[in-house]
Amino acid sequence: MKKVITVVKGDGIGPEIVEQALKVLDRVAALFGHEFEYQEILAGGCAIDRYGEPLPPESLEKCFCCDGVLLGAVGGPQWDVGPGHLRPERAVLGMRKAMGLFSNARPAYLYPQLAAASPLKPSLAENGIDLIIFRELTGGLYFGRKETFTAEDGLMTAADELVYNEEEIRRIARVAFETARGRRKKVCSVDKANVLETSRLWRQVVEQVAEEYPDVEFRNLLVDNAAMQLVANPAQFDVVVTENMFGDILTDEASMITGSIGMIPSSSLGYGKVGLYEPIHGSAPDIAGKDIANPIGTILAAAMLLEYSCDMKEEAEAVRRAVNNVLDAGYRTADIFPKDAGMAAGLTKVGCRTMGDLITEGVKK
Ligand code: IPM
Ligand code: MG
Repeated sequence: MKKVITVVKGDGIGPEIVEQALKVLDRVAALFGHEFEYQEILAGGCAIDRYGEPLPPESLEKCFCCDGVLLGAVGGPQWDVGPGHLRPERAVLGMRKAMGLFSNARPAYLYPQLAAASPLKPSLAENGIDLIIFRELTGGLYFGRKETFTAEDGLMTAADELVYNEEEIRRIARVAFETARGRRKKVCSVDKANVLETSRLWRQVVEQVAEEYPDVEFRNLLVDNAAMQLVANPAQFDVVVTENMFGDILTDEASMITGSIGMIPSSSLGYGKVGLYEPIHGSAPDIAGKDIANPIGTILAAAMLLEYSCDMKEEAEAVRRAVNNVLDAGYRTADIFPKDAGMAAGLTKVGCRTMGDLITEGVKK
């Protein structure tokens, strides 16, 4: 099969981690007889430097003429000074919105080999963590009206509007329930219905959708409680569905308990097949160019791209197996290398490039 993949290396560690994922994709192509054409675009801080804007129209256009977009990370302190619309993050937000990518899937899986890297105590980590959070991605506070103004009392005042309509809630809820059917058949919807009007609508609509899925166990949880439950007993969760801002926060928390945010991929999809795939971590400018970043989140994001946007499930599984085998063989990047000398025994610390090479070589049919 021939597939066109739009590649956004971005800023900070973006280029080095994306390069590893491309090596893996090349290996998949060679092994399975596919052809991947990469079209590279600039977005984020590097696009601000070059074009004066984070997401130039010619970059965005390419995101529509492809099978999937693979993104490293965007942002860095040098661009933190500009006005809101000129920040690198606008590139990601702009792509999500323009491409209609309302459904963001962020799995949090604790590889048994990495149990020691989890900040949770071993008795909790032993129960396993295998959950997936569906974060609504194109609504809520992120995209509501924003303003900063001087109020009548003379005080500088800022406002971010939080709006959801029933359809925005229904469609992400359906994705969560459909996914649960292929997993452990449990959905937990997270909101703040004791305070927020949008959450009360959220709850009402998700409960309606739940009725269409009597085979799926369903419950609501308030977001503060969910944050607590995630560290107190993460094994209880299978599929979690929540709104944009809560999802942003909870997915960072969920990823950390699996050992490292560097391990976690994400997919963002709309009604169609073209999606945006990225690791959930940021551009980590402090470690950029040092060859110590963990490329696994990006490599697993490439696997998601293969599965969801290219109909290549077998290929995606081959990549996931390779990651698993490399971890089994004891290779670790710095972020997942135990600080404790005893636990580090028998493990080998490797850089970003070597990790990429090992996984690439490990991809087998
Ligand atoms: C994420 C990031 C983004 C978000 C930023 C970079 C705008 O934190 O993908 O989780 O808040 O959605
Ligand atoms: Mg985030």
